[in-house]
Amino acid sequence: MPKYNIQVNGKNQEVDVAEDTPLLWVLRDSLHLVGTKYGCGIAQCGACTVHLDGAAVRSCMFPVSAIGTGKITTIEGLSEKGDHPLQVAWNEVDVPQCGYCQSGQIMTAAALLAENPKPTMNQIVDTMHGNICRCGAYHRIREAVKLASTKI
Ligand code: FES
Ligand code: FES
Repeated sequence: MPKYNIQVNGKNQEVDVAEDTPLLWVLRDSLHLVGTKYGCGIAQCGACTVHLDGAAVRSCMFPVSAIGTGKITTIEGLSEKGDHPLQVAWNEVDVPQCGYCQSGQIMTAAALLAENPKPTMNQIVDTMHGNICRCGAYHRIREAVKLASTKI
């Protein structure tokens, strides 16, 4: 099998996987970064969202061979101490219910705030609408993104 050198959370990693292996499985199975979740496997739910060079991507449909020199960031690498403004706001608002969708939600929101630190509520809704929460925590998710935008 081919070897790929990829950069994840600031570290160079060598993985030995088939070229069509989705990044999600490289993260979870090869690198044991299990904060990124499998929901649908077909880019429809957002549970697997990570960053590639700062942009939100769905790792379940992103083949390892397409990463190249791109820098991957997962929820484990979003902040050193779990103190990204979104993570602080998430705690303040007490967002999660079961928690399964939450890393994907936060990574999508983090890409938004990196590009647009003061989004309107409509922009938040537009950006977050593709991230499904089976527990229906949408109101708290939006509130926390708005709160985080006041801390940046
Ligand atoms: S698991 Fe990737 S979008 Fe649902
Ligand atoms: S908190 Fe349960 S799926 Fe979102």
